[in-house]
Amino acid sequence: MCGIVGYVGPREAQPILLEGLRRLEYRGYDSAGAAIAQDGVLHVRKTVGKLARLAESLQADPLRGHTGIGHTRWATHGSPTETNAHPHQDTNGHISVVHNGIIENYVFLRAELQAEGAVFRSETDTEVLPHLLRRYYTGDLLAAVRQALEQIEGSYAFAALAAEHPEQIVFARKGSPLVLGLGQQENFLASDTNALLPFTRRVIYLEDGHHGLLTADTCQIYDAGGTPVAAAPSEVQQSAAAAEKDGHAHFMLKEIHQQPEVLRHLLLSYAPEHGLAQTHTAGTSIQFPGLGVLEQRLTEIHRIVIVACGTAWHAGLVAKYLLEPWARLPVSVELASEFRYAEPCLDARTLVIAVSQSGETADTLEAVRIARKFLAPVLGVVNVPASSIARAADGLIYLHAGPEIGVASTKAYTAQVTALTLLALHLAQRRGTLPQELMAERLEALRQVPGQMQEILQWSPKLDALAGLPAYKNASHAMFLGRGCNYPSALEGALKLKEISYIHAEGYAAGEMKHGPIALVTEELPVFCIAVQGSVYAKTLSNIQEIRARNGRVLALATEGDTQIAASCHDVFYLPPCPEPFSPLLAALPLQLLAYYIALELGRDVDQPRNLAKSVTVE
Ligand code: F6R
Repeated sequence: MCGIVGYVGPREAQPILLEGLRRLEYRGYDSAGAAIAQDGVLHVRKTVGKLARLAESLQADPLRGHTGIGHTRWATHGSPTETNAHPHQDTNGHISVVHNGIIENYVFLRAELQAEGAVFRSETDTEVLPHLLRRYYTGDLLAAVRQALEQIEGSYAFAALAAEHPEQIVFARKGSPLVLGLGQQENFLASDTNALLPFTRRVIYLEDGHHGLLTADTCQIYDAGGTPVAAAPSEVQQSAAAAEKDGHAHFMLKEIHQQPEVLRHLLLSYAPEHGLAQTHTAGTSIQFPGLGVLEQRLTEIHRIVIVACGTAWHAGLVAKYLLEPWARLPVSVELASEFRYAEPCLDARTLVIAVSQSGETADTLEAVRIARKFLAPVLGVVNVPASSIARAADGLIYLHAGPEIGVASTKAYTAQVTALTLLALHLAQRRGTLPQELMAERLEALRQVPGQMQEILQWSPKLDALAGLPAYKNASHAMFLGRGCNYPSALEGALKLKEISYIHAEGYAAGEMKHGPIALVTEELPVFCIAVQGSVYAKTLSNIQEIRARNGRVLALATEGDTQIAASCHDVFYLPPCPEPFSPLLAALPLQLLAYYIALELGRDVDQPRNLAKSVTVE
């Protein structure tokens, strides 16, 4: 949610800022801008729309200079206009700021600063920052930042530049991510490591309260109390190419196709093949090295609360269907954005599991902080190493899915479901609630899933053709139905379709249809129904009949070998047979691909759908 970059060193700043912003654009893309210091002047350029517009403008008329800051915006306060785009300046344009987060007391500060004569140009909360820095600036920008930090409330990661000191960038972080990148006689900063990878792998992840100053060859960091911090740099392992499309038309398509490989890697990391034999004997096949102290506490817990948002919440819902029967523990799955404002009942024996691809979702992070206040053990299931949730949790399961750049989550979802499935088996093992033979059988079946996913991907052209049918691509509304562990699949299918195609879609538990949603069924309404073999197959088939009886158009996801279903549906896509608990993993792929191809048919911007941003770091 907004991306910021900064560069100070001997090179021209412009291309570095642009490349960094290109790699951060998934965080927000309604406007972009850069400020570069040269000869005692801050040169600023801002454009509305995608980064390409800024790049064009800068190519036509470059900004020269060796120190600069850049921003790609996801609007919170003020519509996406050039004036509201960052960087923002103080009244006389001598101080420039890029910011990610929300300054919550900006109305009060703005009134105060205006009364002092500051001229505000935008509607943003951010603009109070350069004016505040100007209020305190007496030649030392870092000192001004320290004073400004005492005044501001909210969440922020910001970088500031003063015309008088073109050799410095000053920064601060609280509640929004910020990483420093260390080079040879040059330094960088960015919202995440993706932006830094082409330039350096030595990074320092800043903590809340950290602020400081970068020059080409120094990096000063201070904690909230002003004490210098001696932070040791870490080496980023990820390859720069991992954040490229690799010949795919879109990141989303690349990430859909990566799923078999991601799952194989997860299984290899946490349930290596040789573990199968051990399952029968020592029972040690699934291991999570990142659980740390939590491992000992697993047998004490009496309840699980999963907190997450969006797609990650759907993954949590799937997990409830596995954790309860296998580990015999009550599980509640909470929307983090609701949980944080409720009065949760937590204790030291309630395991709180925070599921998040980015590890930065503000609501999920706050839910983690609340859990810690209640002394509840917190397990993070995250994809991004060293993210805020990863650092706040007591134990971790990393998804190892590689960077997910497409705004619509795909590979992270199936990785989350798989990681939670393995956790369910691990807990069952620790608690002795599932016979060893059954455990071995489940694990063996789970190991077949990546291969089955590959089979499904080979059938992509069929899904492409279905997406091209007017009944689907021209629909104004769509319904997704599923039962049991595929009720969350229906929710996820609907979310994928609506977020990238803009077709209004809702997911329902199929049994709930007759309690209201059936009123929507007409021949105009496509109903996507997950009707795989398993305990609720017959019931789901009855629901399909009810829709057909009302002229609804049904596309079913069924199991290969099902000879009944075709007679009741307009279209069927067959999935390889697998045990019911793993069917959400398989069902996810055709649902993702249908959403993808329908969005393409409609000419949508698949990787950067309107109004969305990848990492929701504001409440
Ligand atoms: C939907 C989607 C979002 C995220 C949600 C949580 O495709 O991507 O709903 O799942 O914003 O994000 P993370 O997992 O980063 O906490």
